[in-house]
Amino acid sequence: MLYSPFVKKNIDWAKERISELRKEIEYHNYQYYVLDDPVIGDQEYDRMFRELVELEGEYPELASPDSPVQRIGGEPQKKFQKVQHRRPMLSLANAFDEAELRAFYKRIRNLLESVEIDFVTELKIDGVAVALSYEDGVFVRGATRGNGLIGEDITANLRTIRAIPLKLRDNKKPEVVEVRGEAYLPISAFERINEERAQEGESPFANPRNAAAGALRQLNPQVTASRPLAFFAYSVGYLEGLNFRTQIQVLEQLREWGFPVNPQHRYQPSMEEVIRFCHEWESKRKSLDYQIDGIVVKVNRLDYQDRLGVVSRDPRWAISFKFPGELATTRLHEIKINVGRSGALNPYALLEPVQVGGVTIRTATLHNEDDIRRKDIREGDLVVVKRAGDVIPQVVGPVREKRTGQERPFTYPDRCPACNAAVRREPGDAMAYCTNRNCPAQVLEALKHFVSQGAMDIRGLGPQTLEKLLELELIEDPADLYFLTAEDLAKLPNFKEKSIKNLLNGIEQSKSQGFQRVLFALGVRHVGESIAELLVTDFGDIDSLAAAPEDEISSIQGVGPEIARSVHHYFQVEDNRRLIEKLKKAGLQFQVAGETLKGEGSFSGRAFVITGTLPGFSRSQAAEFIESHGGRVTSSLSSKTDFLVVGEGPGSKLKKAEELGIAPISESELKKMAITGGEETD
Ligand code: IVH
Repeated sequence: MLYSPFVKKNIDWAKERISELRKEIEYHNYQYYVLDDPVIGDQEYDRMFRELVELEGEYPELASPDSPVQRIGGEPQKKFQKVQHRRPMLSLANAFDEAELRAFYKRIRNLLESVEIDFVTELKIDGVAVALSYEDGVFVRGATRGNGLIGEDITANLRTIRAIPLKLRDNKKPEVVEVRGEAYLPISAFERINEERAQEGESPFANPRNAAAGALRQLNPQVTASRPLAFFAYSVGYLEGLNFRTQIQVLEQLREWGFPVNPQHRYQPSMEEVIRFCHEWESKRKSLDYQIDGIVVKVNRLDYQDRLGVVSRDPRWAISFKFPGELATTRLHEIKINVGRSGALNPYALLEPVQVGGVTIRTATLHNEDDIRRKDIREGDLVVVKRAGDVIPQVVGPVREKRTGQERPFTYPDRCPACNAAVRREPGDAMAYCTNRNCPAQVLEALKHFVSQGAMDIRGLGPQTLEKLLELELIEDPADLYFLTAEDLAKLPNFKEKSIKNLLNGIEQSKSQGFQRVLFALGVRHVGESIAELLVTDFGDIDSLAAAPEDEISSIQGVGPEIARSVHHYFQVEDNRRLIEKLKKAGLQFQVAGETLKGEGSFSGRAFVITGTLPGFSRSQAAEFIESHGGRVTSSLSSKTDFLVVGEGPGSKLKKAEELGIAPISESELKKMAITGGEETD
């Protein structure tokens, strides 16, 4: 049907035309973004897109979440909702060389008792991990990884990525499937965006990953839509109704559903070939238009993956081979000291800007005093710098042959550059520390950490505002932020009614951050996000943690003695105890909320299968309900299944359950069981 202004439009006509345009546009998206094989020109595509936008504008009742129009970006949001992942989003252990790859192989061979093992190697895309949920083939929710258990709902932003299908293509459409992959920004787009930012006087993004993460965290999806993000799918996080045997099959199915799958993945019949592939890409990676920071090696057979299982957050069946860092040579202008929040005097180098592995670096870490002396690094030296993946760039050493005699050896300060207090370095400690507890640099760094994105995430409270608040003596510690009034804020330069209101709101909202973030925000030495998670899961509230002896803390798997000592010590310091009391008064969360994170709850250890249509729950709601009470939901019945939740039109599963002697229960019985713990199901 041709679009003509003379055709009298009516809703039936519009419906048909809209559906035609949607199909056509998604087809061309697929050709372009997934197959890399466009069949029409940009102009023609744009014309169709505009027509669809206009028609949907005219007939808002025909709008639909799977329409390509959604890709322009919807309404701005206030904040992101939290989403609990159906299965944890895992991370990967690293192998830094061939020997570590062989050790990985040996480990799994022992565990699997020496069977033949084949692998799949995939490029490790340096982007942002996301989980995409499809129900009945339609994209319904997309989330960030978050802490692996709970992420943020960024559906509206992910819809703007044209490579992500809004509908699955293949006819094997499962009722529920969660696809996982990496959203990333191509290097060419990254460079273009940075040029534009430079022209507008904005600071450039450090690397494509940060730029991609920034784009996905926009509350206004239209901003995300303006960044040409791309996507590669690499796994299925959750699935009902289909079974795979191998990772290769998973990748094939992902492609059939219409996802871009990285074409460089390869089947590897043996570890020798895996190793060859890893080395091959050390140099080949420069030819790609996206950054990769390693090779992911996965055991191909999914039954072996199951047998190998997961330790802490790392699966035993996969490993990430990390490329050695890339090197570059540049001039070291000056050695500076940054006083960290713990008071450590961190030396760093101000460099002549240089490109390393596709990004420009201007500073590099120098570790500590001994390191500078051992390597004999001097100001004015030509130095070799190294950048590896997500690690901070470092100075490897000077190029001594190029010295002119003008270079200046560095003397480490014996006074804190920020407050002039004495510096102390304990024997056996690599770092020197400022001895002044109230050192302004430490206080500022602690505040910056406290309000930062991974911690309390107080928007609109940048370093300059914090500095000003300290200078005007409106705050002394993080807790003071919660007692600021509009009058106080009015004293800040450029703070008018609206900015005051926004900041007060931001501060207020941060009170709802969970205990884990609060603990991380405190800035206890060695307590990063994942250690905070371990401590919170184990202790549940701050008073139990504060009262715990060192050996109890170090008995948690993943928490070593040094960390335990630091945590224990933190709570012995009077000032810290006082700060916590003040933060409690301010209303911050110092215990885990009611929800269970660790699979504990009334359904703990029980496996459920759902069949038929339930009266009050969609299938995914029912699964969420079960999982939030600690149970597991699987797609097929087996002797390990405990209950079959039966709705209307149950199909063959009911019969099979009877044969296996599995108890069928209704939705209302399920809800009752959540309270009773499943002991009585009468
Ligand atoms: S598999 C085993 N495959 O790497 C579960 N991850 O540390 C881990 N990544 O955050 C995921 N490319 O975002 C897998 N081909 C790939 C990947 C990949 C990049 C990222 C992923 C995750 C991190 C794992």
